[in-house]
Amino acid sequence: MPNHYAIVLAAGQGTRMKSKLYKVLHPVCGKPMVEHVVEQINHLNVDEIVTVVGHGAEAVEAHLKENSSFVQQTEQLGTAHAVMQARPLLEDKEGITLVLCGDTPLLTSDTLSELIMYHNEKKAKATVLTAVTENPTGYGRIVRSDLGIVEQIVEQKDATDQIKAIKEINTGTFCFDNKALFAALQKVTNDNAQEEFYLTDVIGILREQNEVVAAYSMHDFSESLGVNDRVALAEAQRLMQKRINIKHMQQGVSILNPLTTHIGSDVVIGADTIIEPGVRLKGHTVIGEDCVISGDTEIIDSTIGDKVVIRSSSIEESVVGNEVQVGPYAHLRPQSKLGDTVKIGNFVEVKNATIDQGSKIPHLSYIGDADVGQDVNIGCGSITVNYDGTNKHRTSIGDHVFVGCNSNLLAPVTIESHSFIAAGSTITKNVPEHALAIARARQTNKEGYAKKFGYSKK
Ligand code: UD1
Ligand code: CA
Repeated sequence: MPNHYAIVLAAGQGTRMKSKLYKVLHPVCGKPMVEHVVEQINHLNVDEIVTVVGHGAEAVEAHLKENSSFVQQTEQLGTAHAVMQARPLLEDKEGITLVLCGDTPLLTSDTLSELIMYHNEKKAKATVLTAVTENPTGYGRIVRSDLGIVEQIVEQKDATDQIKAIKEINTGTFCFDNKALFAALQKVTNDNAQEEFYLTDVIGILREQNEVVAAYSMHDFSESLGVNDRVALAEAQRLMQKRINIKHMQQGVSILNPLTTHIGSDVVIGADTIIEPGVRLKGHTVIGEDCVISGDTEIIDSTIGDKVVIRSSSIEESVVGNEVQVGPYAHLRPQSKLGDTVKIGNFVEVKNATIDQGSKIPHLSYIGDADVGQDVNIGCGSITVNYDGTNKHRTSIGDHVFVGCNSNLLAPVTIESHSFIAAGSTITKNVPEHALAIARARQTNKEGYAKKFGYSKK
């Protein structure tokens, strides 16, 4: 087996994106474009990936980390010039080098394997991955001889009307004999409309030397989409979303309206879970089996158990057990941990808190920086007063505690198991086991006063 290398071009400024964010870092289904590309190359087990980076290099390196080595292209003089930057790392190596653009996030490892296979079959020095489309505007065109042999690639801006009419395009992905690539690159000039060094010229150069150049035409044009502007970004998002949703549906997840359901590329969902329209599942989220997720729900970087029902709620960096109910309109903020069968109802916010099995917080509460035991009932409107204006403090609640409606639990405070807090209490001291705590002003009834104020009509 020859060695395999891959060069990912990611130094372009992406001026057409009109963005402060480096082009290849724009996310598609929650993941930067260039990360999609490198992930697919990784499935091929190549010996080395070299990513060519420019401005914002640190940000790209932070995303790709140990998956790639990096070379800098300080000035963006074109795709051939970009590949040249990898010369010190790869020039002398024997083997096959894939070159990919960091802005083609939909390309799959299956297609890349087919490209390599075809390149080997043809014993070519270079093989370009092409696709056929009704609307080739913006792409380089594949010019073939009458015999169908690839002669050259002509960029849109350099193309005559006749060439513009060609519907076979360059996807920007190539497979090269490594040494032939670096030898040919030295002959590339910038004598063209954009005064750039085009990688595509390598094809014409190798042809002039009578080397074997091949083109592998892929079946699915949508895989080759190159994202140069926000319109293409939205299209890439739509296509990737469709692909992700189909994968989940094939694995037994019901997605009632795939067009309005956004699932990130790293999300895992168990079989027989039903995802209703409008739901967004993001980041490293894992959802169990037999769940129902509906309404305006957004779940980010969270783990949800089996048989959980979540309605119109927002969940971030949290862990939810089995058979839990959340919402509607609940907010689980980071580091919330709900045990099995917990119920979090309407307008409840939980933050950095553990709620153990069977406990219920059904309405209008804030539980922050707290540890709540099992089978606790927190009445409507109760809150943990966790912040004194300077520091945050924790509230600790044992098992089987009943917190009456509209109680304030002033942290730091401990409410021991089996205790009972009377409604409307402001608890400032610890409550011992089995105690009843009442901390509210006693009621006085002033006889006849309602009438005196003219309120009572009788
Ligand atoms: C390029 C191809 C075109 C092809 C299209 C497919 C060339 C000359 N043109 O055009 O034939 O149809 O991709 O999507 O190769 N880059 C650098 N350094 C540079 C310039 C670009 O790293 O100096 C990187 C960009 O970050 C990008 C990739 O190379 O990831 C392609 O560059 P881009 O400017 O998007 O090329 P296109 O005009 O799309
Ligand atoms: Ca492009």
